Amino acid sequence: MKALLLAGGTGSRLRPFTHTGAKQLLPIANRPVLFYALEALAAAGVTETGVVVGDHEREIRRAAGDGSAFGLRLTYLHQDRPLGLAHAVRIARDFLGDDDFLLYLGDTYLPEGVTGFLDRARAQPVDARLLLTRVADPTAFGVAEVAAGGDGTAAGSTVLRLEEKPEHPRSDLALVGVYAFTPAVHEAVRAIAPSARGELEITHAVQWMIDHGLTVRAETTAATWRDTGSVEDMLEANRHVLDTLVGGIEGKVDAGSTVRGRVLLAEGAVVRGSHITGPAIIGAGTVVTGSSIGPYTAVAEDCRIEDSAIAHSVLLRGARIEGAPLIQDSLIGRGASVLATPRLSRSHRLVIGDHSEVHLTS
Ligand code: TTP
Repeated sequence: MKALLLAGGTGSRLRPFTHTGAKQLLPIANRPVLFYALEALAAAGVTETGVVVGDHEREIRRAAGDGSAFGLRLTYLHQDRPLGLAHAVRIARDFLGDDDFLLYLGDTYLPEGVTGFLDRARAQPVDARLLLTRVADPTAFGVAEVAAGGDGTAAGSTVLRLEEKPEHPRSDLALVGVYAFTPAVHEAVRAIAPSARGELEITHAVQWMIDHGLTVRAETTAATWRDTGSVEDMLEANRHVLDTLVGGIEGKVDAGSTVRGRVLLAEGAVVRGSHITGPAIIGAGTVVTGSSIGPYTAVAEDCRIEDSAIAHSVLLRGARIEGAPLIQDSLIGRGASVLATPRLSRSHRLVIGDHSEVHLTS
């Protein structure tokens, strides 16, 4: 069984971060989202993995290398334009050959991994096997209608119909970004036409398989699955991983500071006159002075935080926060600065990038 890991795409919901980097490399608890996927594939016994990449190919290659650090053999497949998930399968045709494969969306965070799913796919191969989960608002997802029975068994439930982001969903079962296919999918991805949004949709390819009498089954997971494609989802995935964090103080904490709960302070990090409340992770080279950090906060490497309070947030490498009363539910980019100015007027001064978002308290 091979794997096809999708790490291209536009990432429009994660602008401005995706203007300068791949969304699959944004960190959850200070590790790129993509690394959780690579680990999950290796744990499930996969070796040969194709990685579909777009504009941020160089950066992804630099981070994941040849895959040997994860026990994988990675082959990079360049997709000139993000023309859809089924298009990504099309361009991987030669790499995939006549093997069964697992399609894994590279911005998917699945805490339970894919070992069980893949074991069942190997034990009972069907043309397409889908993983589903119940969601509150199915209109934002690919949605499956399944026949009663079969779920919870290796055979899974029969899938009757799929719809992409339906206005009037027929079920609350959303597609999690993991699929197992036999080579039968290749005819389907060649046969379909672009959707209204101009993409070759994988849901349409699977629907084509159903319409042509191929066997499509699904199983439902109750695990907390996250598509980390939006800021809210990134923060939620971060909270989820921090909940399982094993603490450890390798950096320096002075006598005027307190550290409560599970806190991972990397070697080379310095905390002075501050309060850190776990779960929280603070990267190497970061200096925290006179501040309060946490809970549920991940601060990457080489950040500077002074006279500020930060909770439920993620800071990327080299971010700088000074004199901020309380920052919450925020994602702060690489090398970005949040600075207080004296209250001389009622105006705010902003220097922010394209597609950025600032929420001011009035
Ligand atoms: P999506 O999140 O569905 O698409 P996107 O990356 O274009 O994001 P947005 O909707 O915010 O603009 O993609 C799911 C995963 O598949 C993600 O890891 C990117 C990847 N992908 C490709 O590799 N090629 C593609 O053509 C598309 C559409 C996505």
